[in-house]
Amino acid sequence: MRLSLRFVVPLLVALGIFAYAALPLVDRLMLRWLSRDLEVRSSQIAKTAEDPLRNLVQSGSPDHIPQLLARITRDERLLAVAFCPAGSADAIATPTLPVELRCSDLDRFADPPNDLLQTAAGGGPVYVSVQPVNAGSGVGLGRLVLVHDVSFIARRSSETREYLFFFFVGLGITVALITVVIAQLSWRGWVQGLRALLRGEGLLRPSGKPYVPELQPIARDLRALIRDLGAAPRRPDEDHVAWTPDTLRTLLRGELRGQEVIVVSNREPYIHMRQNGQITVWRPASGLVTALEPVMRACSGTWIAHGGGSADREVVDAHDRIAVPPPPAPPAYHLRRVWLTEQQEAGYYYGFANEGLWPLCHIAHVRPTFRTSDWEQYAAANRLFARAVADEARSDDPIVLVHDYHFALLPRLIRESLPEATIITFWHIPWPNPEAFGICPWREEVLDGLLGSSILGFHTQFHCNNFLDTIERLIEARVDREMFTVSYRGELTAVKRYPISIDWPAPRAATAVPVEQCRAAVRQRHGLPEGHAIGIGVDRLDYTKGVEERLRAIERLFELQPEWLGKFTFVQLAAPTRTRIEHYQQYQARVEALAARINERFKHAAYPAVILRIDHHEPESVYEYYRGADVCVVTSLHDGMNLVSKEFVAARDDNAGVLILSQFTGASRELPEAIIVNPYDTDQCAAALQLALTMPKEEQRARMRLMRELIKEFNVYRWAGRMLRDAAGMRRRGRISHSMVAAARAAL
Ligand code: F6P
Repeated sequence: MRLSLRFVVPLLVALGIFAYAALPLVDRLMLRWLSRDLEVRSSQIAKTAEDPLRNLVQSGSPDHIPQLLARITRDERLLAVAFCPAGSADAIATPTLPVELRCSDLDRFADPPNDLLQTAAGGGPVYVSVQPVNAGSGVGLGRLVLVHDVSFIARRSSETREYLFFFFVGLGITVALITVVIAQLSWRGWVQGLRALLRGEGLLRPSGKPYVPELQPIARDLRALIRDLGAAPRRPDEDHVAWTPDTLRTLLRGELRGQEVIVVSNREPYIHMRQNGQITVWRPASGLVTALEPVMRACSGTWIAHGGGSADREVVDAHDRIAVPPPPAPPAYHLRRVWLTEQQEAGYYYGFANEGLWPLCHIAHVRPTFRTSDWEQYAAANRLFARAVADEARSDDPIVLVHDYHFALLPRLIRESLPEATIITFWHIPWPNPEAFGICPWREEVLDGLLGSSILGFHTQFHCNNFLDTIERLIEARVDREMFTVSYRGELTAVKRYPISIDWPAPRAATAVPVEQCRAAVRQRHGLPEGHAIGIGVDRLDYTKGVEERLRAIERLFELQPEWLGKFTFVQLAAPTRTRIEHYQQYQARVEALAARINERFKHAAYPAVILRIDHHEPESVYEYYRGADVCVVTSLHDGMNLVSKEFVAARDDNAGVLILSQFTGASRELPEAIIVNPYDTDQCAAALQLALTMPKEEQRARMRLMRELIKEFNVYRWAGRMLRDAAGMRRRGRISHSMVAAARAAL
């Protein structure tokens, strides 16, 4: 409005001045036109009266002149007429002649507009025309004075003023309206252009036309300025900062102004189970939990997850919350449990998430199964979690970290209930190429849901690229390959690579039992002699983990290098997972059968070739195996990151032990010092095992040191810190762009 007034007020003032100056001019112009008309008329009257007048004067009958004059007055609708004979000062006139008119004083009426005379009687102005009367052959007989009543001029003039006044008012209103409309339209274009710019979309409409061509020259400067303003205040050595829980806490308190953090995942960090009448606490075999738990201890806040333990309901308060970690550790954050019915869990978790999206996103040659009923339960469960987020949020703009493929719809649902929230979604598994993803019957809904996020994270650049390719192929959105953003439904989602990691130093390092003791304990547990070589595999029993391929490689090693028989045993710790799903049941059966067959084949050896432990293993026990083993084997067929590889390296503070790592894990990009293998190539894996078992200590140390350096630097605090720092930058940019747009709005 203020902006419109800035246009309209000067315009109206200018129009007013113009009108004020124009009115007297118009008056004068009208008078001139009328004078000219009256002069012409008077001259015609004089010509008509000339002959009778001459006759009366020359015939010596001047007494009849008044009658002639009275007739002229009547016929021609004049106010008065007078005849001034040549050489006489006395006029022969009609009685209506104004007293101010004298024959001796007629010269002043020679030039219009001086012919106007204001009569003393107050009868209004009169127009006086003086016309010569000739006696013939150029001799002057006298002058005829014709007096016109021109009071109508005043009336007409005031009417004209009125018309002109309304004309200018009308003109002013029309011009003002046109100005305001054009200003509003142009300004709207500017605001849209500015917003598009702030969203990083550039200055083109979706149609490809510019919002405001005039903005184009400053677009790049403006974006750079906003980026600079929004960028976190950086310390010069920031990338070399050692990320610790304290660094993360400082970031939260400083750049994020103590803003609350809400984490959502399907799997809970602590599961309460009732066993033999007792409640025990389990920590699930989950890379996600391994990574997130230390972050939550540092950040506090609330972790929302499915309460799936048999005693979970018994330990929560009236709001389904419990402070964790459980005693004796001091409580650091809240776990809010969400309850699902059996039917919901079956459709959402086992069905759409793990029979649909899981095989869809992993290249593991298991076909995804999509059922409408599963999809409905998946959507319903996402809605339940969205309600829990809204319940837990203490502000309008919390930072919500949504984890994994169980919650593809959640970011959009949160965005609807908390439009100001900063939503960071992290997809822990690979993202397939567009053709593969296109199989999903609800692909548009899944993408729409994910694009409710402010930031969408993947472990690798390859998965980010796959996601952007999918967006370009399947929905109407604008992808910026330079900034790695997607603009969709007027909102911007940044798609970024955040390789996940683990806590560093390993939480158990301080209290760790020496490696030698761990080696002895592990061997003793399995009845193996001192000096016996041990390989270790730690996985959820999932077909993506390549456990069958791994066991086949062990078998091949014994075939090719039989000297290892009785001297090397491979221990596979496998946590049962998703056991209600047929593929997983079949997989477990196949792994068990394969391990049994290999052991049967090499039963003549003094010690077993393979020890398979399908059971839940607590982190302390796994840590002991890592430290007691000579080689750790990770042969995932496809894995977003794989944290087992990083945990093994973190556990080896003695710089000994060898890691064999699948090239199809995200971790293989970060740990090239591992022996990188193709798990489908059995001979190659067997050769890798041989290489690992015979690797000199010095080489083991050199490789292990490099890998430990990397994990130390790129630990889970850096992973979380980078996401939170990006979120903080985004919030700052959001505030800047809001205030710019609000200022623009207020100006309108
Ligand atoms: O790898 C994906 C993932 O969600 C991990 O983040 C997590 O470790 C694992 O799957 C958990 O699987 P579940 O919760 O089904 O046992």
